[in-house]
Amino acid sequence: MGFAIAIDGPAGAGKSTIAKAAAARLGAVYVDTGAMYRTIALYLLRTGTDCEDTEALSRALSQIEIRLGYEDGLQQMYLNGENVTGLIRTEEVSRMASISSSKKEVRASLLKLQRDMAKSQDVLMDGRDIGTKILPDAQLKIFLTASADVRAKRRYLEQQEKGVECTLEEIKADIIERDYRDMHREESPLCQAEDAVLVDTSDLTLEESIETIVQLADSRRARRVITAETAGFCFGVRRAVETCYEEAQKGRKPIYTFGPIIHNEQVVSDLEKKGVRVIASEEELSEITEGTVIIRSHGVGRSIYQQIERQGLTLVDATCPFVKKIHKIVKEKSEQGWEILIIGSADHPEVQGICGWISGKVQVIATEEEARAFKTSEDAKICVVSQTTFDSKKFSKIVEIIKNLRYYYTDILNTICNATEERQAEARKLAQNCDAMIVIGGRHSSNTQKLYEICRSECEQTFYIQSLVDFDVSLLPSSGCVGITAGASTPNNLIEEVSHQCLK
Ligand code: DC
Repeated sequence: MGFAIAIDGPAGAGKSTIAKAAAARLGAVYVDTGAMYRTIALYLLRTGTDCEDTEALSRALSQIEIRLGYEDGLQQMYLNGENVTGLIRTEEVSRMASISSSKKEVRASLLKLQRDMAKSQDVLMDGRDIGTKILPDAQLKIFLTASADVRAKRRYLEQQEKGVECTLEEIKADIIERDYRDMHREESPLCQAEDAVLVDTSDLTLEESIETIVQLADSRRARRVITAETAGFCFGVRRAVETCYEEAQKGRKPIYTFGPIIHNEQVVSDLEKKGVRVIASEEELSEITEGTVIIRSHGVGRSIYQQIERQGLTLVDATCPFVKKIHKIVKEKSEQGWEILIIGSADHPEVQGICGWISGKVQVIATEEEARAFKTSEDAKICVVSQTTFDSKKFSKIVEIIKNLRYYYTDILNTICNATEERQAEARKLAQNCDAMIVIGGRHSSNTQKLYEICRSECEQTFYIQSLVDFDVSLLPSSGCVGITAGASTPNNLIEEVSHQCLK
């Protein structure tokens, strides 16, 4: 979502005039949702559709195609291809729009169109339920109103200018009636969203009203923070950490993890306080005589399972199921005589664990140069797998090189897990659209390092932080958009704390 401003309020508060001018000053697209309801109303009037007849209404709605366009910055409404902008401001249409907009079928028919408009651009959208229903996550919500007397006077003067005969009393009665209908209807009644700013324009000039909105938007826009949805713990890591906490709660001490459960010192030390200790090496493991050993999500080779069993220890396997699948593949393939080529970092525990399931030949490569230099016997059957957290773009490039080496049999299995790909793709997209990026994760976390590389290639101001300690908010630009993503072992609370700091 871009920067979204939702303006709601009763009829005649000057919403459209104020919103249009404010949008132009803020460089946002102005979306007048009332015009959409008016366009539907025009169709209903033209076809003589009875709004109370649900079937007829639904049928009519299914025949309407509404489109918005912009000419010289002004919103144009298209009804089944016809530009009806000039036809939807009559009193007759106003009345029909007021009635038909209370129908749930009518509202539902516009929901997607309205939401989609805010997906990829900065918008200033006005209506009755924008802050409460259409864009509940809008960065700024305004409830724009004025007293019924002031609104009636403004409308009366407008009508006089147009030469329309009417009295002030009639207009006021009409305004009160429409307010009542908008506020008391069952579907999306007009009301001020809890987090909306109330702007009463009764005593403000037009210029002052516009200025109020521009200033509110500027202060909200000063620094925007967007956290990637895929930031943080992936499924495998969350499962492993939860397993540790569950084991600690069972209270059957001592409990160990073979290697730190995740690359995050805070989580490791919290677990330590709960009695979960880290075994750093195979030697340390060989000295343990009782208790439970938890295998972390990275997985380990077969020999570690055997050692734990030999020593009579309880084994709790929290290996990520995606890694476990690779173990199975390489075990079976190598037993069948295939040579295994792992695309990943040779010194990464996950890769070392995978190697521990291979009975035949194995090579590990991580770069295109290494791929070009790859050699084995001509008749070798090569099974290629990847570290689950490997960069998918790099993987494709390396695979292309391997394919071009033209070995007789190559079976290429992309075992990069979706969570990593999704996190990387989202980080790349976010970095392309942000003025600064923060990547949170341990220095030794390879997936965080990769996220950093990706973000840095798209956004020059990318910061790699491990915790709040090495985070200097003053380095961030004071305005614009700051994106946050985090490696698979970064806990949620840390991501939230960083996000809060950014907004201070
Ligand atoms: O803002 P307007 O007068 O152009 O709106 C026309 C009608 O549509 C009005 O009766 C209120 C209704 N409306 C609505 O119910 N929800 C919106 N988001 C916008 C307008």
